[in-house]
Amino acid sequence: MMRPIVFDYNNMLDANLGGRGLSPRRLADLAERFREVQRGVARERQEGRLGFFDLAHDRDVVERIRAYASETQGRFDDVVVLGIGGSALGTIALREALLPPRWNELDASARGGRPRLHVLDNIDPSTIAPLLDRLDLSRTLFDVVSKSGTTAETMAQFLIVRDRLVRTLGEDAWRSQVVFTTDPDHGVLRRIATSEGITAFPIPPNVGGRFSVLSAVGLLPAALVGIDVDGLLEGARAMEQRCATDELTDNPAGLFAALQYLADTEAGAPIHVMMAYSDRLYAVADWFRQLWAESLGKRHDRSGAEVFRGPTPVKALGATDQHSQVQLYMEGPFDKTITFLAVERHAVDLPIPGGYPDIEALAYLEGHTLGELLDAERVATAQALASAGRMNMTLLLPAIDANAIGQLFMLFQIATVYAGAFYDVDPLDQPGVELGKRLTYARMGRPGFESPAAPGVEERWVVA
Ligand code: PA5
Repeated sequence: MMRPIVFDYNNMLDANLGGRGLSPRRLADLAERFREVQRGVARERQEGRLGFFDLAHDRDVVERIRAYASETQGRFDDVVVLGIGGSALGTIALREALLPPRWNELDASARGGRPRLHVLDNIDPSTIAPLLDRLDLSRTLFDVVSKSGTTAETMAQFLIVRDRLVRTLGEDAWRSQVVFTTDPDHGVLRRIATSEGITAFPIPPNVGGRFSVLSAVGLLPAALVGIDVDGLLEGARAMEQRCATDELTDNPAGLFAALQYLADTEAGAPIHVMMAYSDRLYAVADWFRQLWAESLGKRHDRSGAEVFRGPTPVKALGATDQHSQVQLYMEGPFDKTITFLAVERHAVDLPIPGGYPDIEALAYLEGHTLGELLDAERVATAQALASAGRMNMTLLLPAIDANAIGQLFMLFQIATVYAGAFYDVDPLDQPGVELGKRLTYARMGRPGFESPAAPGVEERWVVA
């Protein structure tokens, strides 16, 4: 039976923070505006702009993915995703949350015959070269993931991999070691797939990279390693249902967006920390960081006026960062919200044995478990922050399973669209990354990009 994520936002409200939090009256004002926001989202959905909502209903793609995974089962020891940004972070989050820890270090029988899963989301040669040297290329599948089919990092990786495959396996055989995940009609990858007969899965045109985890981008690698794809999509659909209401206080994504927006714009807290109290959820915080940053950090509002808006997401890990960041969160500027990602039931736990009954600093731990200690530290940190007047909230997952992760992905994606409406920016574009891309093309000699406009870039002081 599906159990919902619980959202506790008591510690965002001024009554619990000695007057330093948000007033319920302002939340009530925003609840009025939220009805309009919800209507706008419904409109945009109807116009086909918000394709991520439809992914959890797309049975055809899921069937194709499932068929491919079962046809190829046993053929590959390693799956390597080549992709960056939204084409990689969701898959990493899925791997870390839903596969047994250190999956890639387990032997084949512990993996149930499923392949290892590597995600190359950078182009540092010192990472890529040793991995490629280690792989048995004849038993490796490379999933080249790029919505645009032109991203320099991913295309460079592809060219390197293709060259190695051709040299090792020959001009024809290399093709069965590669699959593409890309736009159904456009881009270089689609062209190559068509002309060279390479299997390719679609990313719908109306789904941008950071909203694509529930498309073939995340689902194909998930299915190949045996993650419960149906559970993920069921969780996503359940969250979509929960967020269908225009009653702000009943809509978890609406509340999350509204609280973060009010904290930023009315309580001076533009830094939004997401602190996972589970190693397995840390990569979800990383995925969220991209979603929140790239969607909301914008120079222009929807009317084109220059506004320079956007909160700054930060990821943190409990209990580790209690010994690194929490001093700042407790006593530094009042410029942050902290969202705890928590889990109600740890799938694995370890009892803490006794050993020194006479040493009080050790004896109290006996009879508890590590999971209990982790939870106690989370609750204590939330309480301590609240008593210091620091805004915080908790998303409590019933368990770390496919259903809950599907819920969580959907919650944050919908919240991002709502936040875009509150901030009055377009959450679906990312014009700010274009200049850097053009300057890179110029430096790498791509025709047509010889003299990009970047005034003053050559004028700088250097200390040598
Ligand atoms: O969210 C986004 O749109 C970006 O982060 C992209 O995912 C990233 O730039 C990679 O783009 P592409 O999938 O086109 O290679």
